[in-house]
Amino acid sequence: MKSFLMYLGAVAVIIGLLQFIPTYEKSNPPTDPQKEIQAPKEVMAIFKRSCYDCHSNETKWPWYANVAPMSWAVRRDVIEGRKALNFSTWNDYSDEKKQELKKQIFRSVILAMPLPQYLWLHPEAKLSSKDKETIRNWASDGKGYIDYDVR
Ligand code: HEC
Repeated sequence: MKSFLMYLGAVAVIIGLLQFIPTYEKSNPPTDPQKEIQAPKEVMAIFKRSCYDCHSNETKWPWYANVAPMSWAVRRDVIEGRKALNFSTWNDYSDEKKQELKKQIFRSVILAMPLPQYLWLHPEAKLSSKDKETIRNWASDGKGYIDYDVR
């Protein structure tokens, strides 16, 4: 019993020390509505529900974004997510880049997005097959398929 308590104490001290390790900054940069993506209402609803936490400047930060080690993973996902695709600054992308991103969005909703570690804590963000179809139709300008360049 005594050694168990010492063990718990040690774990608490280590977790306490982890809090001092610098990590990504947690911020929501100001948004300019002029730059935000414009898409039909049903598409926007899905993006806002399932993607905006990592792909916009309007992240709803969970409490554990303040607690190491969870904060490292959460902040990294948001920073890297915004870098890959930011719906808040969509209109800063060139037309070519927008097309490229739409292709990636088309693909991402089939397999990868939202990230599984996010879905585990945000089950409401899971895309139904109807949601996927809605996004894929939007991302392919209504065609329902995209042309790939095989590289
Ligand atoms: C938990 C955070 C998170 C959520 C929620 C999320 N993403 Fe991502 N997304 C990321 C990260 C991190 C990357 C960068 C991955 C990389 O570069 O390896 C990324 C990359 C992407 C990319 C770039 C290409 C690619 O596949 O790597 C697209 C497109 C994308 N996400 C679309 C979406 C869409 C659409 C949604 C909502 C249905 C979504 N994401 C939800 C974190 C997230």
